[in-house]
Amino acid sequence: PLPSRVRIVEVGPRDGLQNEPVTVPTAVKVELIERLLAAGLTAIEVGSFVSARWVPQMADTAAVLARLPPNPAGRYAVLVPNLRGFEAAKEAGAGEVAVFASASEAFSRANINCSIAESLERFRPVAQAARAAGIPLRGYVSCVLGCPYEGTVTPEAVADVARRLAEMGCYEVSLGDTIGAGMPDTARACIAAVAETIPRERIALHFHDTRGLALANLRACLDLGVSVIDAAVAGLGGCPYAKGAPGNVATEAVVAELDRLGIASGIDPGRLAEAGRFITGALGRVPE
Ligand code: HMG
Ligand code: MG
Repeated sequence: PLPSRVRIVEVGPRDGLQNEPVTVPTAVKVELIERLLAAGLTAIEVGSFVSARWVPQMADTAAVLARLPPNPAGRYAVLVPNLRGFEAAKEAGAGEVAVFASASEAFSRANINCSIAESLERFRPVAQAARAAGIPLRGYVSCVLGCPYEGTVTPEAVADVARRLAEMGCYEVSLGDTIGAGMPDTARACIAAVAETIPRERIALHFHDTRGLALANLRACLDLGVSVIDAAVAGLGGCPYAKGAPGNVATEAVVAELDRLGIASGIDPGRLAEAGRFITGALGRVPE
């Protein structure tokens, strides 16, 4: 059965802007996030505390957080790859942190320079520190429907990593089709396998629209009762370590599709479109 309401997690300011060839000025990031809030988005990923050598586009995340208005109805989230990132996130006042693992060994190596097992060991102290600080922890699994280096990724591999993240204390595990390799049947099979190991209420769908199938894939998985969707305004995004990952599914398209299906999202489509025009204008790009 389809859910009656879906919570959208806006990842554009992080997953979108991390992949832009130019570094977007802090003031533009802040205005984008303010516009997203005005559109009704409350769960917003605003940056990451990672190596500035690896991802220079996110180096100003502390400055972004410092300039954002309060977000009483939701939380500003950031990615952290290790304890050092967590400490920086806490210091900067992040409302939520996310660790990011992969279902494929080669992608884990390319993205965070360690094996899957090593990454999980690295996340354990982050989970402990987050719990101690009362900061909610989210988890990502990348390459759940295919890997740019290894090709096929099995649902069992995804379910295994997702379960470990949930056991570690992630309140929600976001399943990333990092390169948009999924199809409705493979997406559904993967999410169904994960739903056998962790409750579906704790699963989020994070699909990239590389081949234009993200909406169809989301539709196939919503049927399983999953009700959290990650999306990026204007379809920004990708991942610098996943060639062929040009964009997250557009928040505008997700909101329109949910509306068509009679599912509430709480987002104002007009104001969301304005936020999309603002950022595509700032990037000098034609909006979707
Ligand atoms: P490393 O080289 O293995 O580790 O990198 P290191 O400990 O030697 O650190 C390298 C440098 O980073 C050192 O500085 C450290 O001090 C520094 P240098 O000697 O070069 O001056 N460093 C840090 N700096 C700031 N914050 C930190 C931090 N930790 C170390 N927390 C590391 C390992 C994980 C740091 C590196 O690989 C990295 O930063 N990777 C980030 C990759 C990334 O951000 N990828 C994009 C996000 S994932 C994604 O987009 C997928 C997702 O959207 C879901 C999906 O679509 O599937 C989530
Ligand atoms: Mg992504």
